Amino acid sequence: MVEYGVMAMYDIHCHILPGIDDGPEKMEESLAMARMAVADGIRAIVATPHAARVVEKGGKDALEQRISTFNQELQTQAIELKVLMGVEHLLSMELLQEAQRGAAIGLNGSRYLLLEIDFLQYPAYTDDALFQLQLLGFVPILAHPERQANIQKRPELLAGLVARGVLSQVTGGSVLGYFGKEAQRSVEHLLRNNLVHLLASDGHTSSQNRPPVMMEAVAAVERLVGEDAAHCMAVANPSAVIAGATVTLPESRPARRRFFPRLGR
Ligand SMILES: [Fe+2]
Repeated sequence: MVEYGVMAMYDIHCHILPGIDDGPEKMEESLAMARMAVADGIRAIVATPHAARVVEKGGKDALEQRISTFNQELQTQAIELKVLMGVEHLLSMELLQEAQRGAAIGLNGSRYLLLEIDFLQYPAYTDDALFQLQLLGFVPILAHPERQANIQKRPELLAGLVARGVLSQVTGGSVLGYFGKEAQRSVEHLLRNNLVHLLASDGHTSSQNRPPVMMEAVAAVERLVGEDAAHCMAVANPSAVIAGATVTLPESRPARRRFFPRLGR
């Protein structure tokens, strides 16, 4: 197994900022999450509060200020973690208008836009809206497709998007079964069929429920699709996103199963 503790992981989807969305309410809880992430081998987190809450709470400038304050607190507490700016957008026609007027916020200022779609509905405009965002120069990253009901039933929906350059980010907790059997089955299928570019925590709390960690999930991904693909999803691609560089689609190459003949009884 790759030593992820030495080779830093990067989490591009985490609700770590205090008092802004359905992540932690207080600074203490955010700091507890930061300590967990560092202990897990994560060196940088893109803070991705929900876009609607960002707008309600002062917009981009206020978000920048919150991130700066949080990084100062991390330094004060000697927690070796860098927090970068991002947002989790909800894919909608309004988002398209925001993107057109330059108000959409990419991950760490890049052209990568983290997007979620409704968990139950797959609106008719989905594919077109993603395409329009691409025409504007953005690279959409679809957050947790394995938790979306329509993609669970019809993974070819995601395959079509990936073929057109949309990136997909699965959540570590789904691989470990924290979001139920359907999400787990779905993520395994997507991984085995080369439909996943990125793994992230989508952390919300320091509790076991939605922790800001990745290592255990990376190990599970490694067992499913091999070491190279796991490394690509947890290390190489997230760091490329943060740097605004090109992301690759890792290929599933699970370790060949060894056949041990049964010994006679
Ligand atoms: Fe999220």
